[in-house]
Amino acid sequence: MKSVETSRSCPFSPPDEMARLRLDDPVARRLHPGTSDGVWLVSRYDLVRGVLADTRWSSGVGNKDESAMTFGDVAGPPGMFISQDPPEHTFYRRMLTGKFTLARMNRLRPRIEQIVTEQLDELERMPRPADLVQGFALPVPSLVICELLGVPYDQRDKFQRTSAILLSLTATPEEMLEAQREFIEFLSGFVAEQRVKPDDALIGDLIRDHGDELSDDEIVQIALLLLVAGHETTANMIGLGVLLLLRHPDQAALVREGGEATKGAVDELMRYLSIVDQVMVRRATETLPLHNRTAKEGDYVLLSLASANRDPQLCADPDRFDVTRPKVPHVAFGFGPHQCLGQNLARLELEIAYSAVLRRFPDLALAVPLEEVPFRTDMAIYGVHKLPVTW
Ligand code: HEM
Repeated sequence: MKSVETSRSCPFSPPDEMARLRLDDPVARRLHPGTSDGVWLVSRYDLVRGVLADTRWSSGVGNKDESAMTFGDVAGPPGMFISQDPPEHTFYRRMLTGKFTLARMNRLRPRIEQIVTEQLDELERMPRPADLVQGFALPVPSLVICELLGVPYDQRDKFQRTSAILLSLTATPEEMLEAQREFIEFLSGFVAEQRVKPDDALIGDLIRDHGDELSDDEIVQIALLLLVAGHETTANMIGLGVLLLLRHPDQAALVREGGEATKGAVDELMRYLSIVDQVMVRRATETLPLHNRTAKEGDYVLLSLASANRDPQLCADPDRFDVTRPKVPHVAFGFGPHQCLGQNLARLELEIAYSAVLRRFPDLALAVPLEEVPFRTDMAIYGVHKLPVTW
């Protein structure tokens, strides 16, 4: 059996094999490090959406053994609803959906603009070539999550330091465990303070509305989920998105303008880059038909969002990057009951970040040849490890 292909001939596009699979074998059996007997790799748009909409395909998939990355039937702890199924998933999701509406996220706009401006000031002070990932793409979403949750200013350094270790590649397993323990302790203290005196940010608001239905541990897990789901994803969309725009100066000029042009560009960047791809796994809870195959109870599917978003079923000329493309129902934020809770926030952050960085540095340029950019082919979330730029 062949392994799931991860190497790319173009760093902005899914592996070439995906286009062939979409046509010839849209539900293909492939080896995967998560399981000894392989997974069903689903590459077609309609089939990917079909699985995501159907809760007989469980999200309760975790690493059974952290060191070996083996998939297992692991439901998240209470509050970690991304890896739960109904009714647990529905219980938490219903409390949170209303807190992420477009109107509520738009109230954060001035603060996000300020965070972005301050971080660009920092970047501008860095010696050139500067790493846009460390100097801009990583800190912005972390500070925005602090703002969203209501982490007080004097605790943000600690929040950022600990969460950076959690996302780091170089930390040892011991450092990782220690950071996780410290982070949970930090969040527990924060939740305890909010219980006594809830403020108007998300955690305070959640306590005011649902405090009697949720334990402190559950609220801590919710906060942890928002960080884990919202930080690395947004950071990589900023880094990889800026790089793609630098390769398309005519389209970057439209994004620089801000407003409606940038809003449309964000969804095209999301579709085209589809950075969440190799982690979309579901497990069959019973025997289930899967296009021309039959999945047995316990079988895993890997849903290629990147391939689905390049399916000609979704839009004409899907391999062309075009920020003026009319909006299409892409699946870069997932689909169905687990569709990204933070998508309104992510869109807002990206819109502000892309136009601000292009405006601040009209001569922004990659400081190394494209072949020297370290792409995250080794990571669950695709993107760039570093982006050396100059201006
Ligand atoms: C561009 C950035 C982002 C991308 C590409 C992204 C992508 C996704 C995807 C594909 C899923 C579906 C996972 C699944 O079905 O298993 C998801 C779920 C989720 N995302 Fe995002 N996300 C982004 C930003 C954010 C932000 C900023 C937040 C919040 C601060 C967030 C919070 C969540 C949560 C809580 C879930 C789980 C929803 C559920 O299980 O009901 N995401 N995201």
